[in-house]
Parts: sequence; C-alpha cells; structure tokens
Amino acid sequence: MRTESFGNNLINDDLAANLVPGGSMGLPVITAGSGAEVLDEDGNKYLDLEAGPGVASVGHCHPTVVAAVQEQAAKLMQSPGRYHSRLTSELAKRITDLTGNRLRRVFFSNSGAEANDGAIKLALKRATLTGKRGFGILALEHGFHGRLSLPLSLTGMASRKKGFGPYGSFPGVVHVPAPYCYRCPLGLSLQNCGVKCADVVEDVLKTRVPGEAAALIAEPILGVGGVIVPPESYWPKVETICRGNNILLIHDEVFCGFGRTGKMFGHQHWDSKPDIVTFAKTIGGGLPLGGFMATEEVGTSFEEGDHFTTFGGNSQVGPAAAHAVLDVLEKEHLVKRAVDAGHLFMHGLKGLAAKHEAIGDVRGRGLMIGVELVKDRASREPAPQLTKQLQQAMRERGVLVAITGVHGCVLRITPPLVISEAQVTVALDALDAALTAAAQK
Ligand SMILES: Cc1ncc(COP(=O)(O)O)c(C=O)c1O
Repeated sequence: MRTESFGNNLINDDLAANLVPGGSMGLPVITAGSGAEVLDEDGNKYLDLEAGPGVASVGHCHPTVVAAVQEQAAKLMQSPGRYHSRLTSELAKRITDLTGNRLRRVFFSNSGAEANDGAIKLALKRATLTGKRGFGILALEHGFHGRLSLPLSLTGMASRKKGFGPYGSFPGVVHVPAPYCYRCPLGLSLQNCGVKCADVVEDVLKTRVPGEAAALIAEPILGVGGVIVPPESYWPKVETICRGNNILLIHDEVFCGFGRTGKMFGHQHWDSKPDIVTFAKTIGGGLPLGGFMATEEVGTSFEEGDHFTTFGGNSQVGPAAAHAVLDVLEKEHLVKRAVDAGHLFMHGLKGLAAKHEAIGDVRGRGLMIGVELVKDRASREPAPQLTKQLQQAMRERGVLVAITGVHGCVLRITPPLVISEAQVTVALDALDAALTAAAQK
C-alpha cells in the first residue's frame, strides 16, 4: 500500500485515485461503528473524538436510529413531490418545541451549507418585504458556514476561499471581528476589554455595510474556527445592536445544535432570541438532513415557489432517523451527559495544561472543546506542526481527533455524547502520552 500526506491526512493512493482531493479521504479505512467507537478494516478499534464531524452525537449506529431507518426504508423512502407528510410535519413541530415554540416555521434541507444558504435567502426576502434597501449581511471572522458559494462567502476563513475568485465573495457580505479572547483581534485583554468586539458591529454597520443590513449570521460557539467561545455579554450586546438596527439574528447551530454544548441549542447559553436558527449534523443521526427554522413572522416571508429542494423533508428516511435521534437524546439524557462528560474533559485537560507548556488554551462548552497548541505561552505563537504530530500520535494510540482553527493549531474534541467516563480517560491519557513523546523529540 502506497501512502502519502494530503493536508492533515495520511492517504492511500489506490483509495484516493478516483476521488476529488479534499473530500472523504484519509487513513485508517473505517468500516463500522458503535457508540463512541469505530473499527477499521483490519479490526483495529478507535475512540472517535470527531463524530462525523459532530454528527454521531447519539453514538454510531444507535439501535433506535438503525431500527427507525430500516423500518421507514421498507415503507416509503421518498414522498412523490409536494405532498404532506405526517413524519415531516411532526418533526418540524418537535424541533420548534425545543425552542419553546418561539421559532415556529421549519424548512428541511440536505446539509448545513444548504440550511445557511436558505436562511440568508429567507432573511433577504424578509428585508424586501419590510422595504429595506442594500442587503448587507454580517458574519464573523473565523466563522464557518459551509462550502457552497454563499455559505463560503459567509465563512470568515480566507484559506477556504483560496483560488475560487468571486465564488466565495458574495456581494454585500461583511465580516466583523470574532470574540476570540485568546487572540483578541483588537489587541485587548479579557480583564478590561469591555467586549469591544461586540460594539464594533455597530461601527461596521455605519462604515462598511452596503446600504442597509438584512441579517447577521454567526455560530453561537465557533466550531471549525477553533472552538471560540464568546464572553458572557457578547451575544446580549450583539442582539441589542441587531434589534436596534432592525437586523435579523441568525444563529448557525449546525455544529452546536441538539445538545452538543450542554444545552439543546448553543445560543441558549446566552439566552439569545434569534429570528432564524439553522441546523444539520446531529439531527440526521448519520443521514443527510438539515434545515432552518424561523419565527412565525419571518418564516412566512416565503411564498409558494420561493424555495424548495428535492430531498429535505420529502425524503422520509431522514425525518424518521431524526425522530429517533430526538427520542434517544431525551431518553438517555444526553444533553446532561454532554455537561458531565464535558466537565470531566475540561478538568482533565486543565490538568494536562498544568503539565505541558505546549497547551496554550483549553476552552469549550459541553462536548465542544478546543485545545490550542502554542510554541510558547508568552508569545502564543501557533504550533500547527506539533498539532499535526499530536493528531497522528493519538491516532496511533487508537484515538481520532480533528485539527481546526485558522492557524491549524487547535485539537477539536467533539465526541459522541454517549462517551463514557472510561473513554474520556482513554482520550486524556492518549493526549498526555502524545504530548510527552513530542516534548522528548
Ligand atoms: C457551523 C457549521 N455550519 C455549516 C456547516 C456546513 O455543513 P455541511 O457540511 O453539512 O454543509 C458546518 C460544517 O462543519 C458547520 O460546522
């Protein structure tokens, strides 16, 4: 077997030969999964700290989800067209109930990128109906919203747009600084910053937005950007600015949603009241399902023919899986488990930070955790090479973990929410051993 490196991945030439580079590729070759573990084709077991990424929250191949998919697949896989489905309508009701019924109208898509694309389309239609002109859209630096043209434009990570010209530069999209406290974009210190990065939104509205802004879209906690957790007053301040300027607040809950952060939705940590929420990943339990939900007022801005997709809510297997995912989240108290396992991880990681100088920062909520690696703590210079080494060393010890962040120096820990205490210890031990080995090189 010939292998070589591609990005962070070790790839097999034969398996990669007919795939567009950058998609699903990398060793090991995973063939099965159960709970928080996966197996490769040689029978080696790995603890999965990536989970899909962020998809397998209820665990790989949960029997309840598998049974629901099998049963629905034998009954009806796809509705003929634009006809009612009880399964889809009841799923919409269940999901909006999770917001206390504040958000009431749901559109189902196939992915997170499509969910965000549709949410912006809805916001622009709303802006038109309310007589706005200019159609500016605000997004956050370091934010990630998907790889289609508009979501890529919303994404605040330049490396993802390299070589695509205007494909990733949708007119009207303006980025504001992220609340990245470890590397404050305004050069302030956490103790007396006054959360100026939120105030900047108001300045940007006056100086850089073309005409009037329709919406601000952001992840409550920035996942792909390096697990950036905003300070306590950030979202309340930004929300006030949005309300004051009649701008819709869209929270992208594609990664944070459905329990991962220790609340059903990430924005609930700040008690935000978004007008639109987008979701995907966890809800399909491994099947492609996403969507957006909006308040009654905003969600009824679309008229017949404004928006549609062939699959989404028409596919019946995805919604069947989603009902099962919600059942499992509830019955197994997985939101609470995300809190408990998250505490265990944070406690263990803080212990490792006391022992290993290379750990610059440990942050997160629930089971959405980032470990930022630096060359030294004083300069905070990012350590992407070391991060890759750690990822590989952990893989060799049977633990799969992702690398994330603009500087490529954050290990992202987002395991299935069913991860056990013993498995958390396995993960921490693997990171400890990898850091010790790296320091000795
Ligand atoms: C916050 C966020 N939004 C959107 C997306 C894009 O979702 P998808 O890959 O399903 O298009 C992702 C994917 O990682 C994400 O993390």
